Amino acid sequence: MASMFDSVARRYDRMNALASLGQDRLWRAALVRALDPRPGESMLDLAAGTGASARPLARAGARVVAVDLSFGMASLGQRRHRRLRFVLGDALALPFADQTFDAATCSFGLRNMADPVAALRELRRVVRPDGSLVICEFSTPVGRLWRRLYEFWLKRVMPKVARLASSDSPAYTYLTESILDWPDQAGLADLMREAGWSAIEWRNLSGGIVALHRARRG
Ligand SMILES: C[S@@+](CC[C@H](N)C(=O)[O-])C[C@H]1O[C@@H](n2cnc3c(N)ncnc32)[C@H](O)[C@@H]1O
Repeated sequence: MASMFDSVARRYDRMNALASLGQDRLWRAALVRALDPRPGESMLDLAAGTGASARPLARAGARVVAVDLSFGMASLGQRRHRRLRFVLGDALALPFADQTFDAATCSFGLRNMADPVAALRELRRVVRPDGSLVICEFSTPVGRLWRRLYEFWLKRVMPKVARLASSDSPAYTYLTESILDWPDQAGLADLMREAGWSAIEWRNLSGGIVALHRARRG
């Protein structure tokens, strides 16, 4: 997994903007609003990649620690955003003490993990009591027509876009498959509950292509 992300690191942000038709900026803005960081609040961005979500969170006033398993993604992120703190680490064994952070977040990362429930438990361990979690992840579009259009985009158009952008095509085949295999909104809420999170609620973005799930460490 880490080596796959190492290989796409350089073009990753550009491909995101292209493949989402620029929607990714709006999704990240919604993520910041959902977390609503207070100045100086400590926040963990898990699977931070090159820091695409960590950066707007830091701009909003949070002290963000960006964790990723891929050296390629994290080192590029650190070079691009000197004010963020990047840490190389695995979601399943985070290198932090219990209750270190006021909040945690993960955008487009959980789907890539071998054991998402274990990762959600680990996030719960490092967040303080009553702290919050926001997961931003691909989900299931609402309505049959929208879902069909989206699947057409995923299966037929996106692979061509990936090839044109001369990015790593197998990585984008993996992306399509992992999105289609991932649980829907209620399914992710169940996984979060199983990991011990409470007060779970979600909001659809772009008609459910992406969902923001928010929870509390009760
Ligand atoms: C699709 S990228 C998302 C990056 C970033 N959060 C964003 O929104 O652009 C997924 C990231 O998850 C990281 N990742 C996958 N498995 C991980 C794990 N077990 N622990 C930490 N990071 C992991 C990958 O290295 C990759 O950078």
